[in-house]
Amino acid sequence: MPGVSEWEKARRWGQEHGDLVFVKNLVRPYIFINSYDAAVELFEKRGNNYSSRPQNTLIELEGWSQLPSQMAYGDEHRKSRQFLNRFFGPSSVTDFCELQTKVAHKLLFGLLTEPDRFEDFTRRSAGETIMMAAYGYEVSNEKDPYIALADRGVRSLSEAKGFSLVNLLPWSNLNDERLLLVRYLPEWVPGTGFHRLIKEGYKLSHAMVFEPYEATKKSMSDGTYISSVTSKLIEVNSTEDGNIADEPTIAKSAAIAYAAGADTTVSTLNTFILAMLLYPETQRRGQEELDRVIGKDILPTMEDKTNLPYINALCNEALRWQTVAPLGLAHCPTKDDVYNGYFIPAGITIYANIWAMQRDPLEYPEPEKFIPERWMPSDGKRTPLDVYKTQFGFGRRTCPGKHFAANSIFIDIASILAAFNIEMASDENGAQIIPVVDYVEGFVRHPKPFKCKITPRSDKITSTIKQAVEAIL
Ligand code: HEM
Repeated sequence: MPGVSEWEKARRWGQEHGDLVFVKNLVRPYIFINSYDAAVELFEKRGNNYSSRPQNTLIELEGWSQLPSQMAYGDEHRKSRQFLNRFFGPSSVTDFCELQTKVAHKLLFGLLTEPDRFEDFTRRSAGETIMMAAYGYEVSNEKDPYIALADRGVRSLSEAKGFSLVNLLPWSNLNDERLLLVRYLPEWVPGTGFHRLIKEGYKLSHAMVFEPYEATKKSMSDGTYISSVTSKLIEVNSTEDGNIADEPTIAKSAAIAYAAGADTTVSTLNTFILAMLLYPETQRRGQEELDRVIGKDILPTMEDKTNLPYINALCNEALRWQTVAPLGLAHCPTKDDVYNGYFIPAGITIYANIWAMQRDPLEYPEPEKFIPERWMPSDGKRTPLDVYKTQFGFGRRTCPGKHFAANSIFIDIASILAAFNIEMASDENGAQIIPVVDYVEGFVRHPKPFKCKITPRSDKITSTIKQAVEAIL
């Protein structure tokens, strides 16, 4: 098992051995589920058993297991899902459309003024939308302290999942003895950078959950707040004696929305820009559809979504082609189980290999190619497996932000294509710089930095963008 891109190795083992691959990595065993049907059977049909998360000593010690995404299944997790579903469910998420459209216009303005910094602007845009939605907080610039906090937090959590010495400890569920063992291993033990990691991780997870939450509370008492998920949850949970019911759960729910939302949609947006360079004919087809359906030099709105099948196909393919979270988040069964004659012990770490599912050649012929047309089959062919059924996970732990993410991705992609041409950049000798498809691998993947040339499609669209942004500021 390699240390990176485990999903690709597990996919290949799956082709050899079947849907379920059991791997014993030194002392920590994992199961990879390589097929959609097996994931649905275990995580959805048997959801009462497969909805918990494996606990790992370092995650626990660093305080990450308090986040709803890492919590064991139980009352607090259910409460947090209720809080999030109230705002991010399919019908309520439309309340964010205006915000998402405004942020898309700011993204266009950034691309207009400093196109070479497109990666800064896509990152800022994802952070800006979710921070405003979660806390009513206006992101100041790309170096905003809360966005930096979320970045550091996600990286630290990623490290905690993979830190080797701790992973060598027995894999069974956490118990106090193990916690004590890790906590009291002396700092001089070679290779045990984990004391530092634990301290830093704990500070980070605490800051991520409580700093933006406390700032929102303060703005509510000053009367300077902007309505948000947090302010609304505080309002409806405030009791007459001045307390806030479920206060820590409110803070944790908002924190996970911003941590999960800030680092994921940006990956799809940058993947989309990369695909436009490598598959220019898809860009032309998308622009042709926009010009025909909504008109030239006009910025799209969320209402246009249902009338733009090719743009929707581009969004689906950007999500499928380079899976954002290839293994999603691990599930674990709370009781022993048997599937197709295989014994699955309680507490084992199980990953849905979303990467493998999105590269299944029976669903997606030539899966390594970016082909939006596969989402618009003609001649009576069936539509392939909906990307939203795999990309966002499964069962009771499925991503609560998927409708929000879908809207952000649509409005950003449609607006960028309506406004700009995306082409390969040239080097000092005038030769085109052909980008390579190369990703920083982690539990969320991001394209490595690449160069491109982004230019407005007309003078008219330039002034339309400027007017749209002036209207917001
Ligand atoms: C392209 C964007 C996104 C992708 C690909 C994505 C993907 C995922 C995946 C694969 C999971 C794990 C599901 C499972 O365990 O089966 C997940 C969980 C989660 N996501 Fe997302 N996500 C995205 C955006 C968002 C956004 C915008 C939010 C915030 C509103 C969000 C909030 C969460 C939360 C809170 C969880 C934990 C759910 C739980 O453990 O109950 N995600 N996401």
